[in-house]
Amino acid sequence: MRALVVGGAGYIGSHVVFYLLKDNCEVLVLDNLSFGSESSIPKGADFVLGDIRNKEVLTRCMQNFKPEVVVHLAALKSVGKSIHEIAVYSDINITGTINLLNAMIAQNIPYFVFSSSAAVYGTPVYLPIDEKHPTKPINYYGETKLIIEQMLQWYSRAYPFYYSALRYFNASGHEPASSFFAIEKNPENLIPILLETALGTRKDFTLFGDDYDTPDGSCIRDYIHVSDLARAHLLSLHFLKEKKQSLTLNLGTGKGFSTREAYESAVRVTKKDIPLTIGGRREGDPASMYALSDRARNLLAWQPKYNNIDDIILHSWKAYQRNFET
Ligand SMILES: NC(=O)c1ccc[n+]([C@@H]2O[C@H](COP(=O)([O-])OP(=O)(O)OC[C@H]3O[C@@H](n4cnc5c(N)ncnc54)[C@H](O)[C@@H]3O)[C@@H](O)[C@H]2O)c1
Repeated sequence: MRALVVGGAGYIGSHVVFYLLKDNCEVLVLDNLSFGSESSIPKGADFVLGDIRNKEVLTRCMQNFKPEVVVHLAALKSVGKSIHEIAVYSDINITGTINLLNAMIAQNIPYFVFSSSAAVYGTPVYLPIDEKHPTKPINYYGETKLIIEQMLQWYSRAYPFYYSALRYFNASGHEPASSFFAIEKNPENLIPILLETALGTRKDFTLFGDDYDTPDGSCIRDYIHVSDLARAHLLSLHFLKEKKQSLTLNLGTGKGFSTREAYESAVRVTKKDIPLTIGGRREGDPASMYALSDRARNLLAWQPKYNNIDDIILHSWKAYQRNFET
């Protein structure tokens, strides 16, 4: 299988590339390196520096490499910034994706895997969240993902085109069987922030809200190991090719951890002092969010391998230490 991985130099993308290579795929990464880095791309994949807003680059890549599948992870993902930077989020997350889809259709490329997000759901009205849960994004980032999901349905009706829209919950951890780094730049996610504080590159860690209606008062989220996510991409590609049927799937563990549990785990695993500040609640943060991923388990025979917060943090800690030492 020849796979074009767009955004393959980023955190999740580099893991997807690793698993595609392990499955003997030929991989070309297209990335503008705005957040990713070339050194994160696992050895064995080719790389083109380019932007999804550039239609000529997309067409050239597809004509030269002739991929059978496109995995699309390139996007801006800051929930907070998305609320104010509507134009730039529209340009990259929506227009960039339309460019990619239209280039695929023009080149007759039939299989597409899209990085969607649990942000399409908005505030949970019930838990665990299954794929039938109402989709009402509460930030523009989630809206951009939902708009693309809706577009994909129309593309698959009109063309010989099959997609899987993978709604990731909180991606976390690092591949333990590899030494590539794939460290997030300017992270806004909990575990990278905890680890940067443990390394001393941040002063302290702020826990936003300790008065939620949860057992320890802090928010609960579903931390899915990035290697489990990456394996699901591969399985969904095999499904698309074999069944010729599009998919929309949650990818989570179904088990949530609280921010305080993650903090305590980070202290335990890193054996470092991580200064803690208790801050106020952030707007739009629901108390709990975790997934029902039975659809992925049933259709793809996918099973998350990691659901222990200490393992997830340890795998990332090793990657952060290696990165810090180089
Ligand atoms: N990290 C999470 O917890 C999470 C959760 C849900 C969904 N997602 C989605 O997964 C995807 C990957 O996320 P990630 O955490 O690996 O982020 P990331 O920022 O590490 O990776 C995104 C990659 O896309 C590249 N990119 C950005 N804009 C581009 C453009 N215009 N043209 C070409 N390349 C561009 C970046 O350089 C980067 O390498 C994103 O679409 C994100 O919305 C992530």
